[in-house]
Amino acid sequence: MNQTKISLTGIKPSGTPHIGNLMGAIQPALELARQYKALYFIADYHALTTVRESKALNAQVYEVAATWLAAGLDPEEVVFYRQSDIPEVFEFTWILACFAAKGLLNRAHAYKDAVAKNEAAQRDPDFGINMGLFNYPVLMAADILLYGAHLVPVGQDQKQQLEIARDIAEAFNHQYGETLVLPEPMISESVKTIPGIDGRKMSKSYDNVLPLFVPAKELRKRVMQIVTDSKGVEEPKDPATCNLFQLFKIFASKARQEEMAQAYQKGGLGYGAVKQELFELVDAFVAPGREVYQSYLQDTQKLDRILAQGAQKARDIARPNLAAARKAVGITR
Ligand code: TRP
Repeated sequence: MNQTKISLTGIKPSGTPHIGNLMGAIQPALELARQYKALYFIADYHALTTVRESKALNAQVYEVAATWLAAGLDPEEVVFYRQSDIPEVFEFTWILACFAAKGLLNRAHAYKDAVAKNEAAQRDPDFGINMGLFNYPVLMAADILLYGAHLVPVGQDQKQQLEIARDIAEAFNHQYGETLVLPEPMISESVKTIPGIDGRKMSKSYDNVLPLFVPAKELRKRVMQIVTDSKGVEEPKDPATCNLFQLFKIFASKARQEEMAQAYQKGGLGYGAVKQELFELVDAFVAPGREVYQSYLQDTQKLDRILAQGAQKARDIARPNLAAARKAVGITR
């Protein structure tokens, strides 16, 4: 296998990405390309476990591809592809399924939560649960183990799935000898979490996000909705407890942060003015990416070409690894 270690991450196409995603997940993942042979893929078949609107699924794949490219992913430098373009991953999923204990998958959070919901509602425990959801962690293990990935940057919520991937790899290696690389998670709790417009962690599920590449007008509207206390213009204010200031700090220069903190304490500064300045900073930060994002979405054929080239590179890595796994289990001719 390659001397350079491999980092790999999968991106589920869902929802409009926000600034918290960019700073908390996308940028740290892109950083890895400096030290690793970096693979990034769009987990479109994982989305199929929940997305039932074909148009939406198709559009979300392009949106997510355009987002990562606009965030600075260089498709020449890294390997950027669609999961569904790699037939090897589905064959490998079957091999791995034969080493995945059913009891292990019974304990996977997403499945367990769905069962718990059904039980609470006094329905059949497996009501509405498809086998795609149940097997989700096996496909994810295949995504990772097929490429011999050493490092997998993921959010805290993905930790268990990484453990399942390791368990499956260990079961396989126990039977056939060291064949599969055991992946290490890189959990993004160490990277900064960005507060949302209500002060809680920025998250789609709290509906408190600053969306990434939306038109300036829409961004401004969201910034103006940032929650503050109701102190009047003349009153002195406390920067340390002010969510608006915490967001301001992320985007403003050191000097400007200090000036702003003093202006807060002195009084005579309204939150509206701070919001306007924050909007201008965020807008300047996202404007270049916004243009790139829009230009890709207007040329989805170009996105298809980029992803197809990435798929070639990905398959070159996948093929020998799948061949080794097939040989290990005795599927040879
Ligand atoms: N499950 C991940 C998510 O929900 C997406 C994903 C699929 C993934 N396959 C992966 C992440 C492999 C890391 C490695 O976001």
